[in-house]
Order: sequence, then structure tokens, then C-alpha cells
Amino acid sequence: MSAQLIDGIALSRHIRTDIAARVQTLKARGVTPGLAVILVGDDPASAVYVRNKVKACNETGMHSLLETYPASMTEAQLLDRVQALNQDPSIHGILVQLPLPPHMDAQKVIETISPDKDVDGFHVASAGALMTGLPGFWPCTPYGCMKMLESINYDLRGKHAVVIGRSNIVGKPMAMMLLHKNATVTICHSATTDLKAMTLQADVVVAAVGKRNVLTADMVKPGAVVLDVGMNRNDEGKLCGDVDFAGVREVAGYITPVPGGVGPMTITMLMVNTLESAEKK
Ligand code: GUN
Repeated sequence: MSAQLIDGIALSRHIRTDIAARVQTLKARGVTPGLAVILVGDDPASAVYVRNKVKACNETGMHSLLETYPASMTEAQLLDRVQALNQDPSIHGILVQLPLPPHMDAQKVIETISPDKDVDGFHVASAGALMTGLPGFWPCTPYGCMKMLESINYDLRGKHAVVIGRSNIVGKPMAMMLLHKNATVTICHSATTDLKAMTLQADVVVAAVGKRNVLTADMVKPGAVVLDVGMNRNDEGKLCGDVDFAGVREVAGYITPVPGGVGPMTITMLMVNTLESAEKK
């Protein structure tokens, strides 16, 4: 049996149509949602991500401001730019693309973004709000994963969800979101002694490690839902996730492809956060 695909491109298209309509409603009231994207340095992958974010903004009718700076920029200069954008009424979301050059303290930069413009959901205030169930911006990648589960009407109550990876950007917020929906959640990581024993119990697996073949067919319970957050290159240089897609799709009930799965959803949820930030004004 082959798993059903959860198509992140189709779902994104559907959500972005709704976003575009809401943007028009706001514009009619004189407000254009605006996203500022800051890229420091010349990491080629970051340049692609940033371009896609700006493009998505423009396609939904939002205002975007892309600022690119050389890696030689000082941290103080970057903090000045963030503070200026905090005060800019045409900007409702501020995104500083990570990673930053090594001479910068990324957390310090993130904490300088006003929490009400933190559309990445990385500020400690956003993380605290997610943990306590208070309103705040949710990080876009796990938020997109939740939308994918919603799209298949998956009821998480009482289900066992295993998250592989414990990053502040994906693993930890993912676990919190699953917990809010009453799943029993296990977070696995590099020190987990028997990953397979954990994933074999899982009704839902989220793979967010950044390494190929972290999840193979022998590690998956038949019928499980598998969400692949990974973005890697295989030996032929082709984009692939953390999951051995060809093998796992024969065991899982649902699976997200790479490319065309979680990636587009991350950008879509960034649009949602930016729109909602503008709607609050
Ligand atoms: N680098 C990789 N993913 C992300 C993301 O979602 N947001 C930001 N700001 N940087 C990233």
C-alpha cells in the first residue's frame, strides 16, 4: 500500500487565495500588510529562501521590503536597522534570515524585534506565549505542519506523536503545538538511545533533523502520518528530506514529499502571521 501524499503546494495555494482576499479587505481600509526581510551575508541557500518569501508576499498583494547587507555589517548596525523597522508603521512583520554571520549573536538580534512584529515566532515572548497557550506568533514551519494535519482532518487527541529534533525553530515548538491538540508527545534527539523503538510506536512522526534517511521504512508503524521537515541534498545533488521517501511511503498512511511538502507551507504561514499582524493594527 502506498501512502497518500499531503501536497504542500496545493494546500498553500488554497490558503494563499484566502490570504490574498483578506489583504484586499485590509487595503480597502487603507492598510497594506508589510513584511521586512533582512538578509546579512551571501549564503546562497538563504538568498533563495529570502527571494521566495518576498515573491510570496508580492503574490498575495502585500508590501515587502528586502534589505541585504554584507557579512561585514556590525551587530550594532543590524540592531539599529531592526529598531528602525520596529518603529515603521508600514511594516507589520520583521524577519531576519538565519543563520547570521558568526560575529553576531542571533538571539540578541531576535530579541530586538518587537514581539508584535515577530512573524517568525522566534522571540522569547512568542516562545513563552506558545508554551503557555497565550496568543502570539507561532513559528512558521511547525505551524505549517499543524495545518497539514488539519487538512487531512487528523484528530491528534490521544495519539502518540514523535518529533525527531529539538531545535527552537522546529522541534520544540512542534511538540508544544501537538501537545495543545492533546497528543502524547515524545521528543527524540541525538542522545536518544533507541530512536526506532520510539518511532515504531508513533501515530505521527515529524522528522526535523537536517540529515538524510533519519527515518526509514523499518522504523514506521503501518498507517502512520509522516511529516518531513528536512531540506537536504542527495548524492545526485537533488533536494531531499530527512525521510527515506521511497521506502517510507510504502508503510505510512500519509506522507509529505520533499520538495513540495512542508517547505511551501512555511512561507504560507509567514504570510498568515504577517497578515494577522496587520489585521491587529
Ligand atoms: N533560516 C532557516 N529557516 C528560517 C526561518 O524560518 N526563518 C528565519 N528567519 N531564518 C531561517
